[in-house]
Amino acid sequence: MKLFIAIAACALAGALFPATAAAQDTLKVGLIAEFSGPFAGYGRQIHNGMKAYLKQHGDTVAGKKVEIIVKDTTGPSPEVAKRLAQDLITRDKVDFLAGFGLTPNALAVAPLATQAKRPMIVMNAASSVITTKSPYVARVSFTLAQVTEPMALWAAKNGIRKAFTIVSDYAPGVDSENAFVKAFSSQGGQIAGSVRVPLKNPDFAPFVQRAKDARPDAVFIFVPAGEQGIAVVKAFAERGLREAGIRLIGTGDVLDDDVLEAMGDATLGVITAHHYSAAHDSPENAAFRKAYAEANGTEVRPNFMAAAGYDGMAAIYEVAKKLEGRIDADRAMQVLKGLRLDSPRGRIQIDPDTRDIVQTVYIRRAERVKGALYNVEFDKFPDVKDPGK
Ligand code: PHB
Repeated sequence: MKLFIAIAACALAGALFPATAAAQDTLKVGLIAEFSGPFAGYGRQIHNGMKAYLKQHGDTVAGKKVEIIVKDTTGPSPEVAKRLAQDLITRDKVDFLAGFGLTPNALAVAPLATQAKRPMIVMNAASSVITTKSPYVARVSFTLAQVTEPMALWAAKNGIRKAFTIVSDYAPGVDSENAFVKAFSSQGGQIAGSVRVPLKNPDFAPFVQRAKDARPDAVFIFVPAGEQGIAVVKAFAERGLREAGIRLIGTGDVLDDDVLEAMGDATLGVITAHHYSAAHDSPENAAFRKAYAEANGTEVRPNFMAAAGYDGMAAIYEVAKKLEGRIDADRAMQVLKGLRLDSPRGRIQIDPDTRDIVQTVYIRRAERVKGALYNVEFDKFPDVKDPGK
């Protein structure tokens, strides 16, 4: 009998041991993002940025092999995002949740991060409120209020007295409109009108026409990056706003590096404010662009979501190193709070109080550089916190 128990115990240990060892040897990152539908570029760029980090720094950290488990929300789909997070937590037993291009997907998952105690690294979603929804959220991207306020202040100082705002009708757009109206008005600027356009399948022409009819000096725009930017710039050109002496200004989402080339000459001279441009001139960005090209080919250009994916992996590596591979959510958050990184966009820090990012916001002008279109940085606002908090 004793012998039988001993054998059974050995067999059991043998059966369990490989699985346990494998789990202990792996650091699992559950990447929840948009990989299909009109926002498919978000998942692609975030993942590309993460791959660039692994290319440059290797795919092991603190003795563990890094595994990225990719899940597609298919678009702004809170219910899908939630289900994917549940699977990643219970079935895959991930150490980190990461990704989140769109705010509604991040908001849906935040309560699960709290319940299951998993650090959640937000690599794009940019409405201010997200970091308040769970103590396990840290953001390495930006907030709309953070990049909009500098744009408004710059505009007021540079001859724009009357502005019209066009934003997407969901949380990041509302944040952006509020931040612009507040900061621009505080400098004596006048708001000629404000409209919000639907997030899904927007037709920009009537909104751009309304903006033109209000005869502002400039139209300020936020739309989520990618195809919507192309549509806005097209409507702006077709309705002849430039010819009417009306300038286009906005957050850098509108002139997203991923689609900038497709927008063509209509973008020349457009001023935007953002935290990352592929044209950023620094050794860190040169190294990032090299690793990005090695990991993903040279036909794609990294955008701000790729930079945040890369920085998000850098943050995860820092945590793994500090905790010597033993990931515990509360200890991980202690490492993330106050973390500083030399990012491709410049020095960034996670605010220890809010777990939101503090960074330089750049003012950029769309120009041709050696034949290609880029957002060229020419002014900056250092150490900007999220003013929405
Ligand atoms: C968001 O949904 O938070 C979001 C999406 C795209 C952007 C910026 C913010 O370009």
